[in-house]
Amino acid sequence: MIKVSPSILACDFANLQSEIKKVEDGGAQYLHIDVMDGIFVPNITLGPCIVSAIRKNSNLVFDVHLMITDPIRYIDEFAKAGADLITIHVESTFDVNAAIDKIKANGKKVGLSIKPNTKPEIVKQYLDKVDLILVMTVEPGFGGQSFIPATLDSIRAIDTMIKESGKDIELEVDGGISPKNVQLVKDAGANVIVAGSAVFGSSDIPGTIAQLMA
Ligand code: DX5
Ligand code: ZN
Repeated sequence: MIKVSPSILACDFANLQSEIKKVEDGGAQYLHIDVMDGIFVPNITLGPCIVSAIRKNSNLVFDVHLMITDPIRYIDEFAKAGADLITIHVESTFDVNAAIDKIKANGKKVGLSIKPNTKPEIVKQYLDKVDLILVMTVEPGFGGQSFIPATLDSIRAIDTMIKESGKDIELEVDGGISPKNVQLVKDAGANVIVAGSAVFGSSDIPGTIAQLMA
């Protein structure tokens, strides 16, 4: 089954609670929360206090995407704030295993992400420890960018690795996805679809989520 993870980066932050309710009522399963530090990526977004504030009014699976340097420093805080799944980037730390272990020690699901130009083979060594692989389909940092078609090769390669591993690992894609191109990533093997602008910019949020899931 395909799951949709609307990215709040594209929502109206002045009305955060009602925006989240719209996607929850609209049929989304996950809520994608983009955390940026202005160092790993050239943008700054939000921290654990926002996550704990929105946790009070939502039952969605909180899918926290850490685009920060040395993510291990903040894993305990995001876990405590209410993250269900914490995704780190392989490019953001020298000790990916230590960060994975810290997420697990907090009882949370582990996601591992690669940027568009990172070789997909790097994730293979971690497959026995993760619950989800996230393939960035744009350069991380900003919403509203155009999907990079070359990332389809990485999605396909990782889908094959996951199948060969025999493990139950989700394959998520993030960046520039809309009902117009979603079939491409699904055909490549993705089963968790992040969408920011396409969902929050839609005049028919339930309809758009249904199209992404179809
Ligand atoms: C980019 C973020 C994405 C972004 C997706 O660094 O990780 O989650 O919000 O937004 P859209 O769907 O608008 O490309
Ligand atoms: Zn993201």
